[in-house]
Amino acid sequence: MTYILLTGGAGYIGSHTALALLRAGYQVISFDNYSNSSTTALQRVAQLANSNIITLSGDIRDEAALSAVFRQYQISAVVHFAGLKAVGESTEMPLHYYDNNVAGTVTLCRVMREFKVKKLVFSSSATVYGDAKTVPIDETAPRSATNPYGQSKLMIEHILEDLVKAEPDWGITLLRYFNPVGADSSGQIGEDPNGIPNNLMPFISQVAVGKRDKLSIFGDDYPTPDGTGVRDYIHVVDLAAGHLKALQYLESQQGIEAINLGTGTGYSVLDMVKAFSSVNKVAVPYQIAPRRPGDIASCYARPDKALKLLGWQAEKTLEDMVRDSWRWQRQNPNGYGNSN
Ligand code: NAD
Ligand code: WQD
Repeated sequence: MTYILLTGGAGYIGSHTALALLRAGYQVISFDNYSNSSTTALQRVAQLANSNIITLSGDIRDEAALSAVFRQYQISAVVHFAGLKAVGESTEMPLHYYDNNVAGTVTLCRVMREFKVKKLVFSSSATVYGDAKTVPIDETAPRSATNPYGQSKLMIEHILEDLVKAEPDWGITLLRYFNPVGADSSGQIGEDPNGIPNNLMPFISQVAVGKRDKLSIFGDDYPTPDGTGVRDYIHVVDLAAGHLKALQYLESQQGIEAINLGTGTGYSVLDMVKAFSSVNKVAVPYQIAPRRPGDIASCYARPDKALKLLGWQAEKTLEDMVRDSWRWQRQNPNGYGNSN
């Protein structure tokens, strides 16, 4: 029996991908230190899939612990979600971010090589495009980073590119996610940020459920149709399906490819607020606030490469995104901490 190893499998995107993989008949192991997640997510994944998932607690920087996993289980490929992702926090704790994300990935690759497992899907990000000169953004756009989080993703991309140059028998896919939102349609698993959410969709949901007074819209004077920032929001269930396609693609491929996972459509902050209110019939009070430092005006993908190489494209609509985000929030007002 062979397994797919998910590092960070208990997290937001990892748990949705675990569910998609189990439903597709894969055997799945999650290896997570639970620094930003809960074991409940994977218990629910197993229930939803009516199947077992091996859940291991450990840190990707712990080489001995990782080696023990590879020794015990026959692993055919790794999907590497484990990482810290809060942009603001990364500027305050750069060493922690570089250690966790960059050093952790180097350790993971060393162990993979030792056990001759050379298929890797890596969670990269549209953040590697920095402030792109033109939209839509394709994979050949220049890369840059404006904060340690983004820098860590960029460094990892470079490290993996160098690894493939030196050892061409690796097969690596860098999946550059745009803005993941939404939740499984069961409302059982979803995004559960710690403290005050940094990202738009969980903030909107928490306002709607009454946990926060109002949303601050960061700037209404951007050069966009309504002045608020434009992003490529992608449903997490579509994203999960993209990982499945990437794993299938790697079965017959070597080398390294960077692939955007986005819808190709940009929506503004106001579009998101209005869609959330009207689809869910719930009020989302907001105020216009100053721009958030480091934010860009507009960012959305050219998703053609994913269709061409993986046969993948996003299928969920904006309505699906806001409806599913709300169902998760309403059913779990306190996330996994204290669910209804
Ligand atoms: P998440 O925080 O929900 O999941 C990450 C998981 O990794 C968590 O369960 C956490 O406990 C675990 N983890 C962190 N460091 C670890 C370590 N050293 N050892 C073991 N486990 C560790 O985040 P997510 O939204 O699911 O993101 C998954 C990946 O996708 C991350 O690498 C993130 O940078 C990337 N990404 C996320 C977004 C987004 O907006 N959510 C966008 C682009 C890229
Ligand atoms: C979206 C839009 C904000 C919150 C970040 C990371 C990126 C990637 C995805 C990991 C922007 C506006 C937000 C709020 C608002 N993560 N906004 N009020 O900044 O596009 O990307 O998450 O790789 O690296 O930088 O996402 O959800 O924070 O913001 O007005 O309270 O919503 O200004 O226009 P962002 P976001």
